[in-house]
Amino acid sequence: MADQYAYSGDDKRPTEIPAIRWEEPPEGPVLVLLDQTRLPAEEVELVCTDAPALVEAIRSLAVRGAPLLGIAGAYGVALAAVRGFDVEEAATALASARPTAVNLAVGVRRAQAAHEAALAKDGDIRQAAAAALAAARQLHQEDAEASARMAEHGLALLDELLPGGGHRILTHCNTGSLVSGGEGTAFAVALAAHRASRLRRLWVDETRPLLQGARLTAYEAARSGMAYTLLTDNAAGSLFAAGEVDAVLIGADRITADGSVANKVGSYPLAVLARYHHVPFIVVAPVTTVDPDTPDGASIEVEQRAGHEVTEFVAPQVPVTGAEAGGGIPVAPLGTQAYNPAFDVTPPELVTAIVTEEGVVSPVTAEALAQVCARSRRA
Ligand code: MRU
Repeated sequence: MADQYAYSGDDKRPTEIPAIRWEEPPEGPVLVLLDQTRLPAEEVELVCTDAPALVEAIRSLAVRGAPLLGIAGAYGVALAAVRGFDVEEAATALASARPTAVNLAVGVRRAQAAHEAALAKDGDIRQAAAAALAAARQLHQEDAEASARMAEHGLALLDELLPGGGHRILTHCNTGSLVSGGEGTAFAVALAAHRASRLRRLWVDETRPLLQGARLTAYEAARSGMAYTLLTDNAAGSLFAAGEVDAVLIGADRITADGSVANKVGSYPLAVLARYHHVPFIVVAPVTTVDPDTPDGASIEVEQRAGHEVTEFVAPQVPVTGAEAGGGIPVAPLGTQAYNPAFDVTPPELVTAIVTEEGVVSPVTAEALAQVCARSRRA
């Protein structure tokens, strides 16, 4: 296939898009989110003054992606504490706002534990709130650092697996600055390859039904100046068959003890395609996404989302009203039932490597994964 869409510019600016920030205006502390449901049309901020507003933002995917959910959850606990709300109630609501990405509960627990420890120490609620906020800030910072290290490890792995450069990478969903304190997970690796002039093309799956690929990854790729092409999820098979994919790079919402990977629905079919076509299938995720308490893929709770995300095309500018309406343009007969899992699970035997900030796990075994994760727990 001719490279007729090749980008010839030399724009290699960093793509830092602040997806979340803590602010302290005179009216009181707030958590400011870039509303991802409005991208790429508009860059609109959403200001949360309490945990219920943040829970709603998480459910509506205004803030999304595993690492960012962890950071948001931690800030949400801090917000409740600083504003004098019931911290335990807020933590419970936040941790259960979405079930699959383990980072959310991990982030919430981390800020909650800091709050409880400070409270137990000297009973000062201001100190306890400050401790929760410090924990959230630290998690935010650590995630940025983890991003940078994943990008380094991931690029080294690509170079090892695909000597000669000119990588043509296929990705699914959205894994860049919009989901992270830094430049992301899988997208950060693609970005590193682009900066090193070793990325020939990023193939971007549109990622039905909510189009995180078309709306968000294409937005990040365009800002980075890399060569990218959008495809429908259904077109991936013929792209592999044409020999146009050198590697698949995706993120993860939860990696179980045995190395099973839950990620955006549509990831598993890509892993099957990659195996058939002898293409490496690489998962990039921070250690916080590894959940040693969930033994295997079958034990993962996969979020089921509303049918209207499938039966309507989501276009908030043209709202549809009614009991089951989701505010989109209908594309199926009224009353059509939909199967709409948000994630699927790829078994470890289909995963070539898991890239973490602590190193690369390959082949993917429970023992190797535990060893790499232990490095971060020791640090
Ligand atoms: O439903 P979303 O948009 O939150 O799903 C996000 C994904 O599936 C990402 O691929 C995953 O969180 C990894 S992001 C680093």
